[in-house]
Amino acid sequence: MPLFSKKSKPPTINSARLPKHIAIIMDGNGRWAKARGLPRTAGHAAGAETFRRIATYCKDIGVDYLTVYAFSTENWKRPEDEVQAIMGLLEKYLAEAIEKMERDGVRLKILGDTSPLSPKLLQMIRQTEAISARTQGMQANICVNYGGRDEIVHAARAYMRQGGKPEELTEAALAERLYSAGIPDPDLIIRPGGEYRTSNFLLWQSAYSELYFTDTLWPDFKERELDRAILAYQSRDRRFGGLK
Ligand code: IPE
Ligand code: IPE
Ligand code: MG
Repeated sequence: MPLFSKKSKPPTINSARLPKHIAIIMDGNGRWAKARGLPRTAGHAAGAETFRRIATYCKDIGVDYLTVYAFSTENWKRPEDEVQAIMGLLEKYLAEAIEKMERDGVRLKILGDTSPLSPKLLQMIRQTEAISARTQGMQANICVNYGGRDEIVHAARAYMRQGGKPEELTEAALAERLYSAGIPDPDLIIRPGGEYRTSNFLLWQSAYSELYFTDTLWPDFKERELDRAILAYQSRDRRFGGLK
């Protein structure tokens, strides 16, 4: 009999060994739209739907932290209308979250340099953070105007501004000043969209993350694909520089 007959079930994820923190580079929206003869902005709208589904799925299976890369410090290079469309989708999502996050048991945090965002977005971010402070449940972090390099520079500046001495700077002191302060490092980083790079995502925090790449474009990314990524993660041997 073959090892995997047609009748055998696909392996299932071990819920006792889930990654506590999953991070996703939501890439491939533009190519997804182009393949359908649609404007790139339609790809971003489809990508936002995928984010809603995958965040719900992560919460349902018991992931503690989900971090997604929505807009990088380099994405301002894109045409103004595309940038505005992405900001509009973020606004729409935050408006929904303000209504539903308490009921759904999701806490939200925006990671990145929020200073250039519109006053309306800033106000919504403050509101979601206030709701998060009184909510229990999975934490979803949305990286907006986020760059790993920017984050490290921002943290170093904060340390110095607070009178920190160079010889007393430690890894912990820097980590405490990152946008991700208090959030454990991601166990698993997933990049859909077929590119094999991290594009300035979580430079500091990814030191020992397991990486998973797939050609699936983000709007096509389904729950089964997340299962596959988690299965791959569960087959890895994490040594953190030590020995088994
Ligand atoms: C990811 O999709 C979303 C953002 C970077 C804002 P892209 O817009 O990069 O899609 P592709 O890579 O061009 O297909
Ligand atoms: C990374 O995707 C940023 C986000 C998904 C938000 P990009 O499409 O901007 O990355 P590159 O340009 O292919 O490296
Ligand atoms: Mg891209």
